[in-house]
Amino acid sequence: MNRRNFIKITGLPIGVMALSSHRRGCSNPTEDYGWNGPSLEQDDIRLSVLAYAMLCPNPHNKQPWVIELTGPSSFDLYVDANRLLPETDPYYRQIHIGQGTFLETLVIAASGLGYDAQIHYYPKGMYSNSELLDKPVASVSLLKNENIETDPLFAQLLKRQSNKREYDGVGMTNLQIDLLKKTHSQDSKSELIITDEKEHRKSLVSYLTQAMQIEVGNIDRDRETIRMFRFNDDEVAKYRDGFGVAQSGVSGIKKIMIENIFLSREGTEADPRYFGEQAVDMTKKAAESSGTFGWLKSEGNTRLDQVLVGREYCRINLQITAIGLVMHPMSQILQEYEDMLPLQTQFKGTFDVKDSETVQMLFRLGHAKPTTHSPRRLVSQLIRL
Ligand SMILES: Cc1cc2nc3c(=O)[nH]c(=O)nc-3n(C[C@H](O)[C@H](O)[C@H](O)COP(=O)(O)O)c2cc1C
Repeated sequence: MNRRNFIKITGLPIGVMALSSHRRGCSNPTEDYGWNGPSLEQDDIRLSVLAYAMLCPNPHNKQPWVIELTGPSSFDLYVDANRLLPETDPYYRQIHIGQGTFLETLVIAASGLGYDAQIHYYPKGMYSNSELLDKPVASVSLLKNENIETDPLFAQLLKRQSNKREYDGVGMTNLQIDLLKKTHSQDSKSELIITDEKEHRKSLVSYLTQAMQIEVGNIDRDRETIRMFRFNDDEVAKYRDGFGVAQSGVSGIKKIMIENIFLSREGTEADPRYFGEQAVDMTKKAAESSGTFGWLKSEGNTRLDQVLVGREYCRINLQITAIGLVMHPMSQILQEYEDMLPLQTQFKGTFDVKDSETVQMLFRLGHAKPTTHSPRRLVSQLIRL
């Protein structure tokens, strides 16, 4: 059962509602984690749109958002400074992309619920890439609008995912590529590049595999990833964030065997070499199985640019879902820690990316069966009291 289709609301003593969920008729209690969908039963529009917004793509499923409720139909969004990835995302660029994906999902959800979501970016001023200040990324006001047209991507919010399986090798058709390019509107902050050329794919397989090799060659980076890896269903249920083998499409007996025989938190933390080797091997196979790759690059790279590109990436992910395809970001080569920079420079040279430009997201696209949705915490856990 992979549709997120039922949600129950429970009250919190402090007056803020907590959203929790279960899957109706779902017999496997270990699947009963995370957040599965919006409530049709509750009447606080802020909580409804936030519950949708949390389903957005975000780095390592860290869920790096804090919400301050500012009025009956308004709130501010902040980066959660306790949910960063300093080793692999030292300037928090990806964390800010994950603010944009949140806002885009929120705006689409609001349209489906009959509201305009008005967004005022950095209302107390923007901060630079070398700092993270406790200032809102955005103020959001929700205005009832009987005439609002539901964004067609609303129908994809509960289905969208980052699909980390091996794909079937078949690339996108020209028609699908054209459609995706249309989704990426002309006034976008970023440029969308899509390629299925054989030479490009070959070179990307090599770059992405080398990048993963570099990434896992450092114990602090390994530890950061291992901290977000969920080794079994108990960890998923406990933390409701991160990702595990289920998101790579491994299920059933194979999943049980991997989790019980090959992978354990204690063993992996003590010696992450096997984990690292697996990551490199899986990256190579995943890239080799993909018929199409794409990336978003931008001229600017301010905090606002990062947020806006996040919004654009989110729409692409949703549009891909709408046409029955899947996609998967592969970010290692884009990361800004020192040991990645020489390879990143080579990659930019190969693909005519100017020094001044930033590749914000890189992903593979194609065909594969859906995977288990990644978990989510409760909306109440985002709210700063
Ligand atoms: C900025 C950004 C970078 C990401 N980089 C990677 C990546 O390098 N590898 C990967 O497997 N997934 C990557 N993802 C996907 C996240 O892991 C995924 O969105 C998250 O686990 C939630 O899962 P979902 O998208 O299926 O809901 C990235 C997502 C974002 C927004």
